[in-house]
Amino acid sequence: MTIAFIGAGNMAISLIRGLVKNGMQSSELVAADPSDEQRAKAQELGIRAEANNARAVSDADIIVVAVKPQIAGQVLKALTTVTSSQLVISVAAGINLDSLQAWLPRDQPIVRCMPNTPALVGAGMTALFANNKVQAKHLAAAERVLQAAGEVVWVPNEELLDAVTAVSGSGPAYFFLLMEHMTNTGISLGLDPETSRKLTLQTAFGASLMAQQSTETLTTLRQNVTSPGGTTEAAVNTMLELGMAETIESALRAAQQRSVQLSKEFGDS
Ligand SMILES: NC(=O)c1ccc[n+]([C@@H]2O[C@H](COP(=O)([O-])OP(=O)(O)OC[C@H]3O[C@@H](n4cnc5c(N)ncnc54)[C@H](OP(=O)(O)O)[C@@H]3O)[C@@H](O)[C@H]2O)c1
Repeated sequence: MTIAFIGAGNMAISLIRGLVKNGMQSSELVAADPSDEQRAKAQELGIRAEANNARAVSDADIIVVAVKPQIAGQVLKALTTVTSSQLVISVAAGINLDSLQAWLPRDQPIVRCMPNTPALVGAGMTALFANNKVQAKHLAAAERVLQAAGEVVWVPNEELLDAVTAVSGSGPAYFFLLMEHMTNTGISLGLDPETSRKLTLQTAFGASLMAQQSTETLTTLRQNVTSPGGTTEAAVNTMLELGMAETIESALRAAQQRSVQLSKEFGDS
């Protein structure tokens, strides 16, 4: 199985690094990018790098589209030698299957993915959806590629990728915002900045790990650490009275709607 990456930016390099770490032969990987600097990063991982996209994809079984969404159309339309025996995996945010299909041969098997930024440190969360040209071997191959950067889930219809964008795609920023305000408040309560940051980050990490290792619901986990009349209850009640639940719901709905809108704009470009 040979994999060609179109675009050797942050996302592609993270996937390549993960694939090589997971035992994939570097001779099975190639990356194409116009930037000397990005090609040098790919070569540092021991793989072939090309300035020419067509040359990179010519003998690939899988083509990973990892360019910015704004240029995905022009890049794919220029790849005139792509055949339907090649699986195309797109990580380009907001580019829907209709657009990808319009820019590729008619019977192209395509998997559309929505990864998130922690993929850059191997802790990504990627949701995938495949078109009806994809076979079982393609599903397994797409999982293998994206698992190189973290966890994967399949969604049963493409519209759900807008919900995925609202939850995990944009999600890291919500946690950064929460951690930013927790750290700042810790400082205003007298902690030094380094200590306040460490307390916040390790608490976020620990809470996520506890939730992942538990079979309890998130509500039960929260109730288990909220003693009546205690400090946690004082904080949680304040958050809920100030509208935290409604704020989160409105925020995620806004992200989902913006994702729908961006898909339309990118599809037209
Ligand atoms: N990074 C993330 O956390 C993340 C999360 C979710 C989804 N994604 C998606 O992943 C894709 C890549 O994102 P990224 O963060 O890796 O972006 P990036 O770092 O900018 O990588 C894109 C690469 O494509 C290169 N490129 C530009 N024109 C090209 C062409 N015609 N042919 C081949 N390569 C070309 C760019 O080179 P130049 O720099 O020289 O232009 C750049 O090295 C995007 O579509 C994005 O929506 C990324």
